Order: sequence, then structure tokens, then C-alpha cells
Amino acid sequence: MIRNAGARRAHWSSRWAFILAATGSAVGLGNIWKFPYMAGESGGGAFVLIYLVCIAAIGLPLLMAEIMLGRRAQRNPVDAMAVLAREAGASAAWRALGVTGVITGLLILSFYSVVAGWMLDYLVLGAGGGFAGLDSAAAQSRLSALLADPQRMLLWHSVFMLMTAAIVGGGVAHGLERANKLLMPALFAILLFLLVYGLIWGEAGRAAAFLFHADFAKITPGVTLAAMGQAFFSLSLGMGSMMVYGSYLKRDTSIVRASVAVAAMDTVVALLAGLAIFSIVFAHHLEPAAGPGLVLQTLPIAFGDMAGGALIGSLFFVLLVFAAWTSSIALLEPATAWITENTRLTRPRASALLGTAAWLLGVAVVLSFNAWRGVTLFGLGIFDALDYLSSNILLPLGGVLIAVFAAWVMKAGHSRQELNLDATLYAVWRLTLRYVVPLAIVLIFLQLTGLLPRLT
Ligand code: PHE
Repeated sequence: MIRNAGARRAHWSSRWAFILAATGSAVGLGNIWKFPYMAGESGGGAFVLIYLVCIAAIGLPLLMAEIMLGRRAQRNPVDAMAVLAREAGASAAWRALGVTGVITGLLILSFYSVVAGWMLDYLVLGAGGGFAGLDSAAAQSRLSALLADPQRMLLWHSVFMLMTAAIVGGGVAHGLERANKLLMPALFAILLFLLVYGLIWGEAGRAAAFLFHADFAKITPGVTLAAMGQAFFSLSLGMGSMMVYGSYLKRDTSIVRASVAVAAMDTVVALLAGLAIFSIVFAHHLEPAAGPGLVLQTLPIAFGDMAGGALIGSLFFVLLVFAAWTSSIALLEPATAWITENTRLTRPRASALLGTAAWLLGVAVVLSFNAWRGVTLFGLGIFDALDYLSSNILLPLGGVLIAVFAAWVMKAGHSRQELNLDATLYAVWRLTLRYVVPLAIVLIFLQLTGLLPRLT
């Protein structure tokens, strides 16, 4: 047993509090902003199918592993990896996995906050009746004007980062748990409302056909990697967020049941958001595959064209802001827990300090859309480079290493005790993490780099 595990640590007040918080971490811009346009661009049902397989075969077992590691260690991800490695008699270098995770969280937070800032900007626009009569040219120039305006983007980026740091500074019970208990039910209610609206007044049939009709010709190694990266990103895996949330979990909660609930809710939200969005898009005769502009450029035209569009449009952006907020606090929490547990800094100070660091990097992201437009890293703009580096490289890499640690390094007796699964299911879980997860991730990497022939 690990010494001092959890003796004086803050904990979620109930199993539900944990499930809501972990779902809050998982459900974010990834589900509502990114998933629908990725599916739209990359082969509809074929993409959805690969995504679902990635969630079930790679995401769920890893989610269980991450939560398990956190709960056993009852510490922030860096110290968790250190004590778990010691317990397993393994190299102290495993601590580096925790450090990389914490840093990845801050990297993602930097551009996540900029994008969430756009949503705040559109929320204010919509609430003020700004969608009325928007045509395609006006919607396009509205978005370009925002992206060309560093001051306005900086303002919203700052507001969102403050919102995030304020909650994380409030601690587990008064910050994280309270925010998720308020925001998540509201998020579900808004999503259901928009879905019902889409079903009644939209083109739900065409939306379903578009999302689920499989076009396998569009499945390339790049698309497969993107689907896997998106599964990691969407379940908040590979960077310690689920680990730190697991570390606030009491011993009597079933990790397996909670993980299934979180993965299921995350997937359902992505699919329902896609259905709601495309129902509205088709009803207003708009282009479905509009890429990242789907939510900011295409949908506002539909909101401007419908009765009650100011209300529906504002609700939609409230949905996005709530989803982003409960995720951004999960991005800042691993680093904050690490610093708070290892220095004399109080939690509010640590979260302010780390929020400022992510904010500064976010300033570069803001500028990459205007003043620093020509600046590229590996041929990508700063924003795209950070997104690619984190979702397609750091998260899958963190995922493989967590799988290797949980299934090869950790003693079977320990993981079995934490997961409390029957012998067969436990064996399936362990074999999946030992072989399937690392192999899948390595294969997809090799394919992408061209070292393997295309497997389409
Ligand atoms: N899962 C979040 C989303 O889908 C993003 C996220 C990643 C949050 C990693 C926390 C940790 O938007």
C-alpha cells in the first residue's frame, strides 16, 4: 500500500460528483465544435465508425487505467507516477510522464482558451441580436474581422482564462465540484432543447444520413490518426487530467462503472451535438462540410434566418462556453495540484500563476491569426502546430506510456484490486492495454510517417 495515501486529501462528495466532473472534463469544444466538422469533412459514417472503435477499444481501457492510477496514488500526476513507480519497483524516470502530462495540459489550455474566447464573443453577439439577417458574406466577414482583431480576441481569451483560474483556485469541493454540478446539468438541458428543436424544425433525417452514411474512400492514414487523436482529446486522456480527477476519488467507487458512464456520455454528446447542428444547417440550405468555420460561420447564418434565432443562437453559444469551461478547469487542475502539493504556494496563487503562463502562450496563439500570421512551426501556424503537437503526438504518446505502465509495470494484484473486475474482464482489460493499445498507436504513427503502406 502507498504510504499516507489520501489521508488528508480533498475528495469528491459522491460518485456522481466525480462522474459529472469527469464528464465535464471530457465534454468540451472537442465534442461540440470539433467532432461535427471533422466527421463532416472526413467521410461521415466511416469517420464516426473509426472514432467509436477508438473510444471503445483504446479510450475506455485507458480511461479506466488513468483513473485507477490516480486513485491508487492519491496524488497529483507527477507524484502519482513517482510513488506508483516506486511501489512497482520500477525506474523513477516514470515521473517524467507526469511532468509531460502537466505541461501538455497547459499547452492545450493556451489555445483552448483562445477558441473558447471566440465562443464568448459570439455569445454576446447573438444575445444582442447580431445574428439577424446575416448572410453568408456577412458571416464570413464577421469571423474574419474577429480573427483580424487581436485586442478583441485577447479580451475574451483573458476573460475565459480568469473564469478558469477562478474555479480551479476555489479547490476541489468549492471550485471543481460546485462548477460541474451547476454547469453540467445546464449543458445537458440546453443540448436536449437544441436537439428537440432540430428534430422538429430541422432536417434530422438528412443530418443522420450525413453523419452516418459511410464513405470509406475518405479514410486515409491521416484521417485514422485524426480520429484516434480526437478520441484521446475528447476523453481528456494521456495528460493526467483523468488521473488527477481520479486522485480525488474515494476507495469505494467503482472505477469501471464510472468510466463506462463517462465514455458513453462523452460519445452521446458528440453525436447529439452533430445531429442538432447538421439538422439546423440542412434546414437552412447551408454547406455541411465547412471545417472549423461550421460553428462560427455557417450556424450563425441559420440562426439569423430562423424565428427566435437570437434565443436559439445564444443558447447554442452558452452550451459551447459551458462545455469549454468545465474542460478548461480540467486542463489547469493537474499542474495546479502538482504545484500546490509541492510548494508553499496556496491553490489560488498556483492556479493564477499557471493560468498566467498558459495565457501568455495563448497571446502567441491570438497573434498567429493576425500579426504573426506568417510565423510557422514545422510548416504549420502557431495555433495549428500546438493543436497537432498536443492532440496527435503528445496525447497518444502519453496514452501508450500510461498503457505500458498500467499493464506491464504495475503489479497485476494492485490493478486488479483497484478495478475490482472479475477474472475474465480483468484479463481482457490487461491484454488490451498490453498489446492492442500500444500496437494500434504505433501502427497509426508508422502509417502516417509513410513507413507502412496505406491500409485503406
Ligand atoms: N476533452 C476536452 C474536449 O473534448 C478537452 C480536454 C482535453 C480537456 C484534455 C481536458 C483534458 O474538448
